[in-house]
Amino acid sequence: MKLYATKNDLPEATRTQVIALCNARLADSVDLQTQVKQAHWNVKGPEFIALHELFDKINEDVEEYVDLTAERVVQLGGIAEGTARLAIKASKLSEYPAGIASGKEHVDALSSAIATYGKLVRAAIGEADQLGDQDTADIFTEISRGSDKWLWFLEAHLQSNQ
Ligand SMILES: [Fe+2]
Repeated sequence: MKLYATKNDLPEATRTQVIALCNARLADSVDLQTQVKQAHWNVKGPEFIALHELFDKINEDVEEYVDLTAERVVQLGGIAEGTARLAIKASKLSEYPAGIASGKEHVDALSSAIATYGKLVRAAIGEADQLGDQDTADIFTEISRGSDKWLWFLEAHLQSNQ
């Protein structure tokens, strides 16, 4: 991978590996964003308005995660791989279930997607740290804190009967 020249003092070998890590999580983030919107549009039932609005709030944050991750790639001299086609080829998330409608089904499907995403991002904190890039580790920590919060918001809808 050819990097752009930069005065950033992180060694090129570090930057190369961190760029690959960030592009991998960028792919997951773009995929997740489309899944959250899919839920926002298609949810039905008596909790429609609450969930429709909740899913849009999640989408706004995931859009931030996309931007933070893509811009870190570019800061390090790389090329952000953020188109839908590139993202879908590289994403580690499962496809969002087709044909679901109820609030419970969408909350369940989205909580699974965010849980998978959160696990990958949490692992990326340690990976960035091991590569010697604490700033990227900090970005992933911020994202991970956010995705844990949204997982809680979603799961709170499912936990009242336990
Ligand atoms: Fe909308």
